[in-house]
Parts: sequence; structure tokens; C-alpha cells
Amino acid sequence: MAKEYENRIRDSGMPPEAYWESLFDVPLILEKLGIGSFHDVAELGCGYGTFSIPVAQSIAGTLYTFDVDPAMLARTRERGLGLRIVCEECDVVACGFGVRVDAVLLFNILHCEQPVELLRHAAQAADTVVVIHWRYGATPRGPDLTIRPRPEQIVAWGHEAGLQAGNVIDFPPWHYGLIFTA
Ligand SMILES: C[S@@+](CC[C@H](N)C(=O)[O-])C[C@H]1O[C@@H](n2cnc3c(N)ncnc32)[C@H](O)[C@@H]1O
Repeated sequence: MAKEYENRIRDSGMPPEAYWESLFDVPLILEKLGIGSFHDVAELGCGYGTFSIPVAQSIAGTLYTFDVDPAMLARTRERGLGLRIVCEECDVVACGFGVRVDAVLLFNILHCEQPVELLRHAAQAADTVVVIHWRYGATPRGPDLTIRPRPEQIVAWGHEAGLQAGNVIDFPPWHYGLIFTA
């Protein structure tokens, strides 16, 4: 059971690492999103580094990542030794995160209480904001359906934050993605 931290995004505790990582085709997702074409990237809520580590390996610049949970940061730092990766403890909803990058990644966190605020912080930091989330429906993990956004809801939040959405990208079996531009 994950420890609770002040301001942790609701329903953002993590199952065991190996199980979490069995739920994604990480190389396919990053390739379809074109992540390797960005220079500096920020990921908000690194978790175990499931995406942070391969992103840091695929970009020419630095991967900045932030989390409220010191155990998640420690694991990502451990896995990222020798890579250009900066891991900082930060509540990204309350405070933003204070770096300028080419793309911000919001992966599996937009079921938070203040999604538009989070998208605004991301839009202030980059011209591209990339989202993935759990499909709306039966999935082996993911936030409760009462708080889980559908893709069209995320698109509408993006508009409120001043962002334009591209098409929904399918990541079978459990996820979808959206690329927003300023
Ligand atoms: C569901 S996990 C997703 C992790 C990673 N993005 C992925 O997809 O593998 C959400 C992560 O966000 C972190 N988190 C929750 N609330 C946060 C906040 N307010 N600021 C920064 N990180 C937060 C949690 O500790 C957890 O590691």
C-alpha cells in the first residue's frame, strides 16, 4: 500500500513495479508519440521511471522529472544512473515545476482534482504537451471510472488551458494518447 503524501493526486498509488510495467508497450508508445524528436523533456509524476528512463535514453537533451513520493524518485534515480536525468521532489499541481523544455509528458495522471491547472503549468513550460491515459472502461488498473476522464474531456481541458489537440492515438490494449500544441 503506497504511503499517502499531502497533495498526492487521487488514485495515484502504484502497484508493484513489474506488474505496472506489464501493462504498457513502452517502446511502441514512445515511438508512436515521436518522443525521440524532442530535445529537453519533462515528465510530471515519474513513478518507477517506467517512461522516464526510456525517454532519457531516446532524447539528445535532458529529462526532468518530478514526483511527490521520495520512494518513486529514488527508484527512478537508481535506474537513471549515467543518463541525463534530473529527478526532483515537487508537487506539480500546486507549484508547477519551473523549467523550460520542448515537451511535457502527463502520463496517467490527468485524473487529478485540478487537471486544467496541471495542463496550464505544462503549457507554460513547453509548446508541446503529451498525454497518455487509461481507456474509459474495464481495464486491469487505472483510476476509478467516476474520476477517469474520457479523451474528449481531456481535449476540452486542453482547450481551457490554451492548447490545441491532435487526433486520439490508440495504444492497445489499455491506453490512448493525445499530443497538444500551444
Ligand atoms: C499513476 S503514477 C504514473 C507514473 C508514471 N507517469 C507512469 O505512467 O508510469 C502517478 C505518479 O504521480 C505521482 N504524484 C501524485 N501526485 C503528485 C503531485 N501532486 N506532484 C507530483 N507527482 C505526483 C505519484 O507519486 C506517482 O508516482
